[in-house]
Amino acid sequence: MGRLDGKIAIITGASQGMGEAFARRFVHEGARVVLTDVNEAAGVALADALGDAAVFVRHDVRNVDDWRAVVDRATRDFGAVTVLVNNAGVLGEIASAIELSQADYQTVCDVNQLGVFLGIQTVVPSMIEAGGGSIINISSISGIVAIYGSPSIAYVASKFAVRGMTKQVAVEFGPQKIRCNSICPGYIKTSMMVAATDEEGGEATTMMPLARLGTSDEVAGLALFLASDESAFITGADHVVDGGLTAV
Ligand SMILES: NC(=O)c1ccc[n+]([C@@H]2O[C@H](COP(=O)([O-])OP(=O)(O)OC[C@H]3O[C@@H](n4cnc5c(N)ncnc54)[C@H](O)[C@@H]3O)[C@@H](O)[C@H]2O)c1
Repeated sequence: MGRLDGKIAIITGASQGMGEAFARRFVHEGARVVLTDVNEAAGVALADALGDAAVFVRHDVRNVDDWRAVVDRATRDFGAVTVLVNNAGVLGEIASAIELSQADYQTVCDVNQLGVFLGIQTVVPSMIEAGGGSIINISSISGIVAIYGSPSIAYVASKFAVRGMTKQVAVEFGPQKIRCNSICPGYIKTSMMVAATDEEGGEATTMMPLARLGTSDEVAGLALFLASDESAFITGADHVVDGGLTAV
């Protein structure tokens, strides 16, 4: 018996990195999953490899029509949605606050913040129809603290906003049995992290109690728990998975 038997999930940004790890783990644990991403080739290949429990839909999280198409596909193929993982995100330009252009600020907030809002707004009615659900928003330790050399003020702003939306949704929709939590990863070895630091995490790991980068699978374990009924009394909370970095 899988820990997500009967769950119907949408995972954004699922073509690679953490989203891919979530998709693999969720299907392994019995969920039926709609994988979405702007990277169509990789997403289609992953969904094919995962079999009948997975489908891919090309989806830009900034686009409300795309969101409607994703929910329609999920409902048609599998039924009302019970899990949403708002994972898609971009790092954006690495620049100081006085150098970052308005356009670059907007781009990051459109994907990382507006995309999460549109996902919540489009998927919650399906969860109400299902009788409840679990929303997992991927924030960051950059949504909790600022870090020297952190990507940019836009990334930090967008990830703080994700934690705020998480709490608001938990409060608004708790009575409808919809839980909403955030995950705040530290340095996890994906192409995004390598872009922000380097292959081994740069100086970041030397300040970390566990002194190494995390893996996407280690974040997937937390996402699985929050998606499952094992976390039935947990909502409106931020869950840090950072090797102890923010404890220092
Ligand atoms: N890797 C880290 O160290 C780290 C740390 C903290 C938080 N995060 C967050 O975790 C999430 C996943 O990051 P990752 O490290 O796996 O990055 P990644 O770059 O490997 O994957 C991100 C995915 O999002 C997709 N994407 C980008 N823009 C999109 C859009 N407009 N619509 C739909 N899909 C889009 C990309 O195509 C890609 O497949 C992001 O929200 C990121 O901010 C990452």
